[in-house]
Amino acid sequence: MISYSISNGLRGIPDVPGDKSISHRSIIIPAISNGICEISNILKSEDVFHTLNAFKDMGVHIEENTQKLVIHGKGINSLKKPKNKIYLGNSGTSARLLTGLLSSQKFDSVLKGDDSLSKRPMERISNPLIKMNAKISTSNGTLPITINGSNLKATDIDLKIPSAQIKSGILLASLNAEGQTKITENKITRDHTETMLKSFGAKIEIDNSDKKKIIKIDGKHELSSKNIDVPNDLSSSAFFIVCALINDNSHIYLKNINNNPTRNGLILALRKMGGKISISNQRLSNNEIICDMEISSSELNGCELGNEFADLMIDEYPILSVAASFAKSPSVFKGLKELRVKESDRLELIVRNLKNCGVNCKTENDDLYIYPSEDFKVKSKKIKTNYDHRIAMSFAVMGTKIGPLEIEDSDSIKTSFPNFKKELNRLGGKILWRI
Ligand code: S3P
Repeated sequence: MISYSISNGLRGIPDVPGDKSISHRSIIIPAISNGICEISNILKSEDVFHTLNAFKDMGVHIEENTQKLVIHGKGINSLKKPKNKIYLGNSGTSARLLTGLLSSQKFDSVLKGDDSLSKRPMERISNPLIKMNAKISTSNGTLPITINGSNLKATDIDLKIPSAQIKSGILLASLNAEGQTKITENKITRDHTETMLKSFGAKIEIDNSDKKKIIKIDGKHELSSKNIDVPNDLSSSAFFIVCALINDNSHIYLKNINNNPTRNGLILALRKMGGKISISNQRLSNNEIICDMEISSSELNGCELGNEFADLMIDEYPILSVAASFAKSPSVFKGLKELRVKESDRLELIVRNLKNCGVNCKTENDDLYIYPSEDFKVKSKKIKTNYDHRIAMSFAVMGTKIGPLEIEDSDSIKTSFPNFKKELNRLGGKILWRI
Protein backbone atom coordinates (compact mmCIF):
# COMPACT_ATOMS: atom_id res chain seq x y z
CA MET A 1 0.00 0.00 0.00
CA ILE A 2 1.05 3.62 -0.42
CA SER A 3 0.68 6.15 2.36
CA TYR A 4 0.54 9.80 1.24
CA SER A 5 1.27 12.89 3.26
CA ILE A 6 -1.76 14.78 4.56
CA SER A 7 -2.21 18.47 5.28
CA ASN A 8 -5.51 18.75 7.15
CA GLY A 9 -4.72 16.54 10.12
CA LEU A 10 -6.60 13.62 11.57
CA ARG A 11 -10.02 14.30 13.08
CA GLY A 12 -12.82 12.22 14.57
CA ILE A 13 -13.37 9.02 16.51
CA PRO A 14 -11.49 6.03 15.10
CA ASP A 15 -13.25 2.71 15.35
CA VAL A 16 -10.49 0.78 17.10
CA PRO A 17 -10.95 -3.00 17.35
CA GLY A 18 -11.01 -5.15 20.47
CA ASP A 19 -7.77 -5.84 22.32
CA LYS A 20 -5.78 -8.64 20.69
CA SER A 21 -4.21 -10.05 23.87
CA ILE A 22 -7.54 -10.09 25.71
CA SER A 23 -9.35 -11.55 22.68
CA HIS A 24 -7.06 -14.61 22.59
CA ARG A 25 -7.57 -15.14 26.32
CA SER A 26 -11.34 -14.62 25.91
CA ILE A 27 -11.44 -17.73 23.75
CA ILE A 28 -8.89 -19.89 25.55
CA ILE A 29 -10.08 -19.44 29.15
CA PRO A 30 -13.86 -19.82 28.56
CA ALA A 31 -13.19 -22.87 26.36
CA ILE A 32 -11.77 -24.74 29.37
CA SER A 33 -14.18 -23.29 31.95
CA ASN A 34 -17.60 -24.59 32.91
CA GLY A 35 -20.59 -22.74 31.52
CA ILE A 36 -21.60 -20.41 28.74
CA CYS A 37 -19.58 -17.28 28.02
CA GLU A 38 -20.86 -14.45 25.82
CA ILE A 39 -18.04 -12.31 24.49
CA SER A 40 -18.65 -8.91 22.95
CA ASN A 41 -16.24 -6.74 20.98
CA ILE A 42 -13.80 -9.57 20.31
CA LEU A 43 -11.16 -8.69 17.73
CA LYS A 44 -12.06 -10.17 14.35
CA SER A 45 -8.62 -10.56 12.87
CA GLU A 46 -6.58 -13.43 11.48
CA ASP A 47 -4.53 -14.04 14.63
CA VAL A 48 -7.65 -14.39 16.75
CA PHE A 49 -9.38 -16.58 14.14
CA HIS A 50 -6.48 -19.02 14.42
CA THR A 51 -7.04 -19.36 18.16
CA LEU A 52 -10.79 -19.69 17.56
CA ASN A 53 -10.36 -22.40 14.92
CA ALA A 54 -7.96 -24.33 17.14
CA PHE A 55 -10.64 -24.66 19.83
CA LYS A 56 -13.33 -25.56 17.29
CA ASP A 57 -10.98 -28.29 16.06
CA MET A 58 -10.67 -29.49 19.65
CA GLY A 59 -14.44 -29.98 19.86
CA VAL A 60 -15.49 -26.80 21.70
CA HIS A 61 -19.00 -25.64 20.78
CA ILE A 62 -18.66 -21.99 19.66
CA GLU A 63 -21.47 -19.89 18.18
CA GLU A 64 -20.48 -16.86 16.12
CA ASN A 65 -23.14 -14.14 16.00
CA THR A 66 -22.52 -10.76 14.40
CA GLN A 67 -22.44 -9.04 17.79
CA LYS A 68 -21.22 -11.81 20.08
CA LEU A 69 -19.21 -14.97 20.30
CA VAL A 70 -20.75 -17.61 22.54
CA ILE A 71 -18.48 -20.31 23.97
CA HIS A 72 -19.89 -23.38 25.66
CA GLY A 73 -17.10 -24.51 28.00
CA LYS A 74 -17.06 -27.93 29.61
CA GLY A 75 -14.05 -27.82 31.93
CA ILE A 76 -10.28 -28.21 32.07
CA ASN A 77 -10.32 -31.75 30.68
CA SER A 78 -12.99 -31.37 28.02
CA LEU A 79 -10.85 -30.69 24.95
CA LYS A 80 -10.69 -33.39 22.28
CA LYS A 81 -7.68 -34.43 20.23
CA PRO A 82 -7.71 -32.34 17.02
CA LYS A 83 -7.89 -34.37 13.78
CA ASN A 84 -5.13 -32.36 12.13
CA LYS A 85 -2.07 -30.34 13.03
CA ILE A 86 -3.12 -26.99 14.52
CA TYR A 87 -2.18 -24.12 12.17
CA LEU A 88 -1.64 -20.78 13.95
CA GLY A 89 -0.63 -18.53 11.06
CA ASN A 90 1.39 -15.54 12.28
CA SER A 91 0.20 -15.63 15.88
CA GLY A 92 2.94 -15.90 18.52
CA THR A 93 0.42 -15.46 21.34
CA SER A 94 -1.62 -18.46 20.14
CA ALA A 95 1.55 -20.54 19.79
CA ARG A 96 2.97 -19.85 23.27
CA LEU A 97 -0.35 -20.02 25.13
CA LEU A 98 -1.51 -23.20 23.39
CA THR A 99 1.83 -24.92 23.97
CA GLY A 100 1.26 -24.45 27.69
CA LEU A 101 -2.38 -25.48 27.67
CA LEU A 102 -1.91 -28.54 25.44
CA SER A 103 1.10 -29.87 27.34
CA SER A 104 -1.22 -30.94 30.17
CA GLN A 105 -4.00 -32.48 28.06
CA LYS A 106 -4.69 -36.19 27.62
CA PHE A 107 -3.89 -36.20 23.90
CA ASP A 108 -1.01 -35.41 21.56
CA SER A 109 -0.99 -32.42 19.24
CA VAL A 110 1.21 -30.62 16.74
CA LEU A 111 1.39 -26.83 16.36
CA LYS A 112 2.60 -25.15 13.19
CA GLY A 113 2.63 -21.62 11.77
CA ASP A 114 3.48 -19.42 8.78
CA ASP A 115 7.06 -18.67 7.70
CA SER A 116 7.45 -15.77 10.13
CA LEU A 117 6.04 -17.64 13.16
CA SER A 118 8.13 -20.69 12.26
CA LYS A 119 11.29 -18.64 12.82
CA ARG A 120 10.32 -17.44 16.30
CA PRO A 121 11.82 -18.98 19.46
CA MET A 122 9.70 -21.62 21.16
CA GLU A 123 12.18 -23.01 23.69
CA ARG A 124 11.45 -20.01 25.91
CA ILE A 125 8.07 -21.70 26.56
CA SER A 126 8.94 -25.39 26.10
CA ASN A 127 11.90 -25.35 28.54
CA PRO A 128 9.99 -24.20 31.64
CA LEU A 129 7.16 -26.57 30.73
CA ILE A 130 9.61 -29.47 30.45
CA LYS A 131 10.61 -28.69 34.05
CA MET A 132 6.96 -29.39 34.89
CA ASN A 133 7.28 -32.79 33.19
CA ALA A 134 5.86 -31.73 29.81
CA LYS A 135 6.83 -33.78 26.74
CA ILE A 136 7.47 -31.29 23.96
CA SER A 137 9.75 -31.48 20.95
CA THR A 138 10.49 -28.44 18.86
CA SER A 139 12.08 -28.26 15.40
CA ASN A 140 15.46 -26.77 16.33
CA GLY A 141 13.81 -24.56 18.89
CA THR A 142 10.98 -23.42 16.59
CA LEU A 143 7.65 -24.59 15.16
CA PRO A 144 6.39 -27.11 14.20
CA ILE A 145 6.31 -28.55 17.70
CA THR A 146 4.92 -31.86 18.87
CA ILE A 147 3.28 -31.99 22.26
CA ASN A 148 2.67 -35.34 23.94
CA GLY A 149 0.02 -34.50 26.52
CA SER A 150 1.14 -35.65 29.97
CA ASN A 151 0.53 -35.33 33.70
CA LEU A 152 2.33 -32.20 34.78
CA LYS A 153 3.62 -31.63 38.26
CA ALA A 154 3.45 -28.21 39.89
CA THR A 155 6.90 -26.60 39.96
CA ASP A 156 8.52 -23.30 40.96
CA ILE A 157 9.35 -21.39 37.80
CA ASP A 158 11.58 -18.32 37.78
CA LEU A 159 10.92 -16.39 34.57
CA LYS A 160 14.22 -15.27 33.05
CA ILE A 161 12.73 -13.57 29.98
CA PRO A 162 10.14 -10.82 30.55
CA SER A 163 7.26 -12.25 28.52
CA ALA A 164 3.53 -12.37 29.18
CA GLN A 165 3.27 -15.12 26.60
CA ILE A 166 5.62 -17.40 28.56
CA LYS A 167 3.96 -16.56 31.87
CA SER A 168 0.52 -17.21 30.36
CA GLY A 169 1.56 -20.51 28.79
CA ILE A 170 2.79 -21.72 32.19
CA LEU A 171 -0.34 -20.48 33.96
CA LEU A 172 -2.53 -22.38 31.50
CA ALA A 173 -0.41 -25.52 31.91
CA SER A 174 -0.59 -25.23 35.70
CA LEU A 175 -4.41 -25.37 35.66
CA ASN A 176 -4.15 -29.08 35.02
CA ALA A 177 -0.99 -29.82 37.04
CA GLU A 178 -1.06 -31.64 40.38
CA GLY A 179 -0.33 -29.18 43.22
CA GLN A 180 0.53 -25.49 43.41
CA THR A 181 2.69 -23.87 40.72
CA LYS A 182 4.70 -20.80 41.72
CA ILE A 183 5.79 -18.37 39.04
CA THR A 184 8.27 -15.60 39.83
CA GLU A 185 8.29 -12.72 37.41
CA ASN A 186 11.39 -10.56 37.79
CA LYS A 187 9.95 -7.87 35.54
CA ILE A 188 6.27 -7.03 35.32
CA THR A 189 4.55 -7.95 32.04
CA ARG A 190 0.95 -7.62 30.90
CA ASP A 191 -1.32 -9.34 33.40
CA HIS A 192 -4.45 -10.15 31.36
CA THR A 193 -4.19 -13.91 31.94
CA GLU A 194 -3.99 -13.79 35.72
CA THR A 195 -6.71 -11.10 35.84
CA MET A 196 -9.10 -13.23 33.78
CA LEU A 197 -8.25 -16.47 35.57
CA LYS A 198 -8.98 -14.81 38.89
CA SER A 199 -12.38 -13.59 37.75
CA PHE A 200 -13.16 -17.11 36.45
CA GLY A 201 -12.59 -18.47 39.96
CA ALA A 202 -9.05 -19.86 39.67
CA LYS A 203 -7.30 -20.48 43.01
CA ILE A 204 -4.64 -17.89 42.38
CA GLU A 205 -2.67 -15.65 44.74
CA ILE A 206 -0.69 -12.71 43.44
CA ASP A 207 1.99 -10.95 45.47
CA ASN A 208 3.10 -7.69 43.92
CA SER A 209 4.71 -6.28 47.02
CA ASP A 210 8.30 -6.43 45.83
CA LYS A 211 9.64 -5.34 42.45
CA LYS A 212 9.10 -9.00 41.60
CA LYS A 213 5.71 -10.54 41.15
CA ILE A 214 4.92 -13.95 42.59
CA ILE A 215 1.94 -15.88 41.31
CA LYS A 216 0.78 -19.06 43.05
CA ILE A 217 -1.88 -21.11 41.34
CA ASP A 218 -3.52 -24.41 42.33
CA GLY A 219 -4.00 -27.05 39.65
CA LYS A 220 -6.98 -29.39 39.15
CA HIS A 221 -9.42 -26.68 40.18
CA GLU A 222 -12.30 -26.10 37.73
CA LEU A 223 -13.10 -22.58 36.44
CA SER A 224 -16.56 -21.10 35.97
CA SER A 225 -17.46 -18.90 33.04
CA LYS A 226 -18.32 -15.20 33.04
CA ASN A 227 -19.36 -12.94 30.17
CA ILE A 228 -16.61 -10.75 28.75
CA ASP A 229 -16.69 -7.33 27.12
CA VAL A 230 -13.31 -6.91 25.39
CA PRO A 231 -11.94 -3.35 25.69
CA ASN A 232 -10.58 -1.57 22.63
CA ASP A 233 -6.92 -2.17 21.89
CA LEU A 234 -4.39 0.42 23.07
CA SER A 235 -1.74 -1.08 20.76
CA SER A 236 -4.00 -0.54 17.71
CA SER A 237 -5.01 2.93 18.98
CA ALA A 238 -1.31 3.82 19.16
CA PHE A 239 -1.14 4.40 15.39
CA PHE A 240 -3.97 6.96 15.55
CA ILE A 241 -2.58 8.58 18.70
CA VAL A 242 0.83 9.20 17.13
CA CYS A 243 -0.67 10.19 13.78
CA ALA A 244 -2.77 12.85 15.55
CA LEU A 245 0.17 14.10 17.65
CA ILE A 246 2.56 14.58 14.73
CA ASN A 247 0.12 16.09 12.21
CA ASP A 248 -1.08 19.69 12.55
CA ASN A 249 -4.83 20.36 12.83
CA SER A 250 -5.51 17.00 14.43
CA HIS A 251 -7.96 16.18 17.15
CA ILE A 252 -9.23 12.68 17.87
CA TYR A 253 -11.18 10.86 20.58
CA LEU A 254 -10.76 7.25 21.55
CA LYS A 255 -13.44 5.41 23.48
CA ASN A 256 -13.25 2.39 25.81
CA ILE A 257 -9.52 1.95 25.46
CA ASN A 258 -7.61 -0.57 27.52
CA ASN A 259 -5.42 1.44 29.90
CA ASN A 260 -3.96 -1.46 31.87
CA PRO A 261 -0.91 -0.16 33.81
CA THR A 262 1.13 -3.22 32.75
CA ARG A 263 0.59 -2.21 29.13
CA ASN A 264 0.30 1.57 28.86
CA GLY A 265 3.97 2.66 28.70
CA LEU A 266 3.32 4.39 25.36
CA ILE A 267 0.95 6.90 26.95
CA LEU A 268 3.45 7.65 29.74
CA ALA A 269 6.23 8.06 27.16
CA LEU A 270 4.26 10.31 24.80
CA ARG A 271 3.11 12.51 27.68
CA LYS A 272 6.72 12.76 28.84
CA MET A 273 7.50 13.98 25.31
CA GLY A 274 4.86 16.70 25.62
CA GLY A 275 2.04 14.91 23.80
CA LYS A 276 -1.40 16.38 24.47
CA ILE A 277 -3.26 13.29 25.62
CA SER A 278 -6.05 13.65 28.14
CA ILE A 279 -7.64 10.68 29.82
CA SER A 280 -11.18 10.64 31.16
CA ASN A 281 -13.89 8.31 32.35
CA GLN A 282 -11.44 5.78 33.78
CA ARG A 283 -13.34 2.71 34.99
CA LEU A 284 -13.18 -1.06 35.44
CA SER A 285 -14.60 -3.51 32.94
CA ASN A 286 -14.04 -7.23 33.68
CA ASN A 287 -11.33 -6.09 36.13
CA GLU A 288 -9.42 -4.34 33.34
CA ILE A 289 -8.93 -0.56 33.54
CA ILE A 290 -10.46 1.19 30.55
CA CYS A 291 -10.82 4.88 29.69
CA ASP A 292 -11.53 7.44 26.98
CA MET A 293 -8.75 9.57 25.49
CA GLU A 294 -8.58 12.88 23.66
CA ILE A 295 -5.50 13.65 21.60
CA SER A 296 -4.47 16.74 19.67
CA SER A 297 -1.52 17.90 17.56
CA SER A 298 1.53 18.55 19.73
CA GLU A 299 5.10 19.75 19.55
CA LEU A 300 7.03 16.78 20.86
CA ASN A 301 10.38 16.73 22.65
CA GLY A 302 12.70 13.76 22.56
CA CYS A 303 13.04 11.60 25.66
CA GLU A 304 15.14 8.92 27.29
CA LEU A 305 13.33 5.72 28.26
CA GLY A 306 15.05 3.16 30.46
CA ASN A 307 14.80 -0.63 30.27
CA GLU A 308 11.74 -0.68 32.54
CA PHE A 309 9.65 0.90 29.76
CA ALA A 310 10.40 -1.98 27.41
CA ASP A 311 8.25 -4.35 29.46
CA LEU A 312 5.36 -1.89 29.58
CA MET A 313 5.16 -1.11 25.86
CA ILE A 314 7.17 -3.65 23.90
CA ASP A 315 4.79 -3.62 20.90
CA GLU A 316 4.77 0.17 20.65
CA TYR A 317 8.43 0.97 19.90
CA PRO A 318 7.94 1.02 16.11
CA ILE A 319 5.26 3.71 16.35
CA LEU A 320 7.04 5.55 19.18
CA SER A 321 10.12 5.71 16.93
CA VAL A 322 8.00 7.43 14.28
CA ALA A 323 6.85 9.97 16.89
CA ALA A 324 10.47 10.51 18.03
CA SER A 325 11.48 11.25 14.43
CA PHE A 326 9.37 14.43 14.54
CA ALA A 327 10.47 15.60 18.00
CA LYS A 328 12.53 18.74 18.62
CA SER A 329 15.35 16.84 20.34
CA PRO A 330 16.99 13.38 20.28
CA SER A 331 15.58 10.28 21.98
CA VAL A 332 17.10 7.12 23.37
CA PHE A 333 15.08 3.98 24.08
CA LYS A 334 16.97 1.39 26.12
CA GLY A 335 16.82 -2.38 26.50
CA LEU A 336 15.02 -3.37 23.30
CA LYS A 337 16.47 -6.87 22.93
CA GLU A 338 13.01 -8.52 22.84
CA LEU A 339 12.12 -6.45 19.75
CA ARG A 340 14.46 -8.72 17.80
CA VAL A 341 12.21 -11.77 18.24
CA LYS A 342 8.82 -10.32 17.42
CA GLU A 343 6.92 -10.84 14.14
CA SER A 344 10.17 -9.57 12.57
CA ASP A 345 13.46 -8.26 13.92
CA ARG A 346 11.72 -4.98 14.68
CA LEU A 347 14.83 -3.19 15.88
CA GLU A 348 16.59 -3.84 12.61
CA LEU A 349 13.56 -2.82 10.53
CA ILE A 350 12.95 0.37 12.52
CA VAL A 351 16.53 1.53 11.92
CA ARG A 352 16.64 0.45 8.28
CA ASN A 353 13.33 2.11 7.40
CA LEU A 354 13.92 5.29 9.42
CA LYS A 355 17.29 5.69 7.68
CA ASN A 356 15.60 5.26 4.30
CA CYS A 357 13.14 7.95 5.35
CA GLY A 358 16.07 10.27 6.06
CA VAL A 359 16.09 10.00 9.86
CA ASN A 360 19.48 9.84 11.55
CA CYS A 361 19.38 6.91 13.99
CA LYS A 362 21.43 3.97 15.29
CA THR A 363 21.39 1.05 17.69
CA GLU A 364 24.03 0.30 20.29
CA ASN A 365 23.67 -2.81 22.50
CA ASP A 366 19.95 -3.05 21.78
CA ASP A 367 19.42 0.63 22.68
CA LEU A 368 17.89 2.81 19.96
CA TYR A 369 19.04 6.40 19.36
CA ILE A 370 17.01 8.77 17.18
CA TYR A 371 18.32 12.21 16.14
CA PRO A 372 15.51 14.06 14.41
CA SER A 373 16.08 16.95 12.04
CA GLU A 374 13.60 19.36 10.49
CA ASP A 375 14.50 18.57 6.99
CA PHE A 376 13.73 15.03 5.84
CA LYS A 377 15.41 13.80 2.72
CA VAL A 378 13.73 10.51 1.88
CA LYS A 379 16.37 8.17 0.42
CA SER A 380 14.01 5.38 -0.56
CA LYS A 381 10.26 5.41 -0.40
CA LYS A 382 10.09 1.61 -0.16
CA ILE A 383 9.41 0.33 3.36
CA LYS A 384 10.48 -3.21 4.13
CA THR A 385 8.20 -4.93 6.65
CA ASN A 386 8.99 -8.66 6.50
CA TYR A 387 5.24 -9.21 6.86
CA ASP A 388 5.13 -7.46 10.25
CA HIS A 389 1.82 -5.69 10.87
CA ARG A 390 3.15 -3.18 13.40
CA ILE A 391 6.03 -2.12 11.16
CA ALA A 392 3.56 -1.70 8.27
CA MET A 393 1.11 0.46 10.26
CA SER A 394 3.87 2.52 11.91
CA PHE A 395 5.38 3.47 8.55
CA ALA A 396 1.93 4.16 7.11
CA VAL A 397 1.73 6.80 9.85
CA MET A 398 5.23 8.02 8.91
CA GLY A 399 3.86 8.40 5.38
CA THR A 400 1.17 10.83 6.57
CA LYS A 401 4.04 13.29 7.23
CA ILE A 402 6.64 12.53 4.58
CA GLY A 403 4.79 10.31 2.06
CA PRO A 404 4.31 8.89 -0.39
CA LEU A 405 5.85 5.80 1.21
CA GLU A 406 5.33 2.42 -0.35
CA ILE A 407 4.75 -0.17 2.37
CA GLU A 408 5.66 -3.68 1.22
CA ASP A 409 3.71 -6.79 2.34
CA SER A 410 1.11 -4.64 4.08
CA ASP A 411 -1.39 -7.49 3.90
CA SER A 412 0.01 -8.46 7.32
CA ILE A 413 -2.21 -5.73 8.82
CA LYS A 414 -5.13 -8.17 8.72
CA THR A 415 -3.50 -10.17 11.53
CA SER A 416 -4.42 -7.48 14.07
CA PHE A 417 -6.35 -4.55 12.54
CA PRO A 418 -8.16 -5.42 9.27
CA ASN A 419 -9.89 -2.00 9.06
CA PHE A 420 -6.78 0.10 9.70
CA LYS A 421 -6.55 1.64 6.23
CA LYS A 422 -10.29 2.35 6.02
CA GLU A 423 -10.32 4.00 9.46
CA LEU A 424 -7.20 6.09 8.84
CA ASN A 425 -8.64 7.30 5.54
CA ARG A 426 -12.04 8.04 7.14
CA LEU A 427 -10.34 10.38 9.64
CA GLY A 428 -8.25 12.23 7.08
CA GLY A 429 -5.39 9.88 6.11
CA LYS A 430 -4.65 8.94 2.53
CA ILE A 431 -3.65 5.34 1.99
CA LEU A 432 -4.17 3.60 -1.32
CA TRP A 433 -3.52 0.04 -2.35
CA ARG A 434 -1.07 -0.11 -5.22
CA ILE A 435 -2.97 -0.40 -8.53
C1 S3P B 1 1.46 -10.63 24.12
C2 S3P B 1 2.63 -10.46 24.77
C3 S3P B 1 3.80 -9.78 24.17
C4 S3P B 1 3.43 -8.98 22.93
C5 S3P B 1 2.49 -9.71 22.03
C6 S3P B 1 1.22 -10.11 22.78
C7 S3P B 1 0.39 -11.37 24.81
O1 S3P B 1 4.76 -10.75 23.83
O2 S3P B 1 4.57 -8.62 22.22
O3 S3P B 1 2.13 -8.92 20.92
O4 S3P B 1 -0.76 -11.32 24.36
O5 S3P B 1 0.68 -12.02 25.82
P1 S3P B 1 5.82 -11.24 24.93
O6 S3P B 1 5.03 -11.59 26.11
O7 S3P B 1 6.51 -12.45 24.39
O8 S3P B 1 6.74 -10.07 25.12
